[in-house]
Amino acid sequence: MAENGAMERRKSKPLQKKYPKVIAVTSGKGGVGKTNIVGNLAVAMTRLGKRVVIIDADVGLANIDIVFNLRPEYNIRHVVSGEKSLDEVMVKTRHGIGILPGGSGFADLTQLNEGEKLTLLSEFETLADQADVIFLDTGAGISSNVLYFNAASDECLVVATTEPTSITDAYALMKVMSQEYGTRYFKLVVNMVENEAEAKRVYGSLSNALDKFLKNVVLEYTGCIPFDRGLQKAVRNRSILLDISSGTPAGDSMVSIADSLAKGEVRNHSQGNLTFFMNRVFDAFQ
Ligand SMILES: Nc1ncnc2c1ncn2[C@@H]1O[C@H](COP(=O)(O)OP(=O)(O)OP(=O)(O)O)[C@@H](O)[C@H]1O
Ligand SMILES: [Mg+2]
Repeated sequence: MAENGAMERRKSKPLQKKYPKVIAVTSGKGGVGKTNIVGNLAVAMTRLGKRVVIIDADVGLANIDIVFNLRPEYNIRHVVSGEKSLDEVMVKTRHGIGILPGGSGFADLTQLNEGEKLTLLSEFETLADQADVIFLDTGAGISSNVLYFNAASDECLVVATTEPTSITDAYALMKVMSQEYGTRYFKLVVNMVENEAEAKRVYGSLSNALDKFLKNVVLEYTGCIPFDRGLQKAVRNRSILLDISSGTPAGDSMVSIADSLAKGEVRNHSQGNLTFFMNRVFDAFQ
């Protein structure tokens, strides 16, 4: 009897809605490989059976569409104005990845009236049923737009290279994020390395600096990507490295980074609700 009762309770429990994990890919210095990393991680995630959406949140030189050789007609500005729905603005790659072009639409988030904010919020909520993972390809640096998106995300993946300027700029980004938005967890990917030892040195110097000057900030080493001419060739051909060759050094690394991101628990915001996500973006603007 007691067992039956327990079974009944289990049956009647409503299914808990699973919200997508929002991962911002960001950097202090520009040109370190964010957009290509987002593109390849997205493809690797689809191979793991995940439904993926990429939001182009770079209000400067948005180019995730170029990497996938797509030419979107509309952008988020058309959603804000109510002319288009999110679905109509989103373009799909042949892998089924949804690309949401930000265009200059995200630059005006501070100017939105309450009605426009609500439109954006409810449109974003529709993404919850379409994606398991949402990547944000952000611009570089510490401009407020980049910071808002990073702060609102569940995960903040910082990309750096071995160049000293890239390392100091990555530190500066994490410093502002932790001091102004209370972000405590970051993940690091070191790109264009010659070997893993180099990447570990970059990780060591960044985490030493964080331990010394910023208390309670945790940096997790997520992986490194070798310098790979194959990736440059893929860029020239407007294609994704993982699509055109298998077993390349950079491609294999991105596959294993995608694996670890898919498995890893969310550290910054356990409530991955997309309305919460957009609200966090709006809150950051206040
Ligand atoms: N692992 C790699 N090996 C070799 N070249 C690479 C690698 N990763 C990136 N690159 C080169 O760096 C260039 C810039 O990459 P990408 O556009 O992805 O950087 P980004 O960080 O998105 O730049 P931005 O800050 O301008 O948005 C690529 O076109 C490619 O030539
Ligand atoms: Mg980019």
